[in-house]
Amino acid sequence: MSKVTVVGAGAVGATCANVMATREVADEVVLIDIKEGLAEGKMLDMYQCATLMDFDTKLTGATNDYRVSAGSDVVVITSGIPRKPGMTREELIGTNAEIMKGVIEQVVKHSPRAIILVVANPMDTLTYLAHKVSGLPKQRVIGMGGALDSARFKCYLAKAAGVNINDVDGMVIGGHGDTTMLPLVSKASIKGVPASQFVTKKKLDGVVADTMVGGATLTKLIGTSAWYAPGAAASAMVESILKDQKKIFPCCCYLDGEYGQKDICIGVPAVVGRKGVEKIVKLDLTTDEAKKFSDSADAVRATNQVLSL
Ligand code: LAC
Repeated sequence: MSKVTVVGAGAVGATCANVMATREVADEVVLIDIKEGLAEGKMLDMYQCATLMDFDTKLTGATNDYRVSAGSDVVVITSGIPRKPGMTREELIGTNAEIMKGVIEQVVKHSPRAIILVVANPMDTLTYLAHKVSGLPKQRVIGMGGALDSARFKCYLAKAAGVNINDVDGMVIGGHGDTTMLPLVSKASIKGVPASQFVTKKKLDGVVADTMVGGATLTKLIGTSAWYAPGAAASAMVESILKDQKKIFPCCCYLDGEYGQKDICIGVPAVVGRKGVEKIVKLDLTTDEAKKFSDSADAVRATNQVLSL
């Protein structure tokens, strides 16, 4: 029996639960929210899709009752306020850090063996907070950002190159912020062929710029933060954990010397399996990329400093 709890029944949390339910990523998916009835209602709505979409996942909703989540293998934390047009993710820190502390306390109490996947923003700093407050080994606290940013990078690259999106490979490391993320053009490829053979330097610069403000563009269009790709990215990571797929995701990991960084959670490629972060993958970065990664770490650290730990 595998069990996943999603904390926060907003758009991202509910979408993540929905993708996991329809793909039968876990035997049981629990959704928790502080708003009375919201999680119960959304899970009932989802369960009514079962015969239409041919899935058989046990779905449970609860109002702030973490006993229902007891014994979860993975807990995805999406709770917090989303950004509004014009806001940065970093501006959410005050409110969302307080929410995160309360949630972590409950999660550790009821699911001591869980792997925690942080989705709420500012994601890198909240992953660091979750790591510190939970006291869990570093392998078991992961942030989702890079998986999402990499999916967006591949989307813009496929559009620019005019190729099938599933032939595109690429990754985004660094912080999950409009100015801190680092789409790795040097590593981007289409069916193993360097992306630079398909797309001009000028267009590639455009792909990088679009990727970096990928979330902000959607927030402007929709009026609030995106949810389809964030929910799907979180589900893909949970699936790799529960099914021990050992897929490599760029994601937010606690670094202890890797990439020249210590005591920080930031995006790097990692093998994600049943034990959580099973291996941090080393990349040969260009001098320019290494400098940008180090600047990104400085920016994430500055936001971490706001936390009273
Ligand atoms: C985004 C939010 C989820 O990038 O951070 O859409």
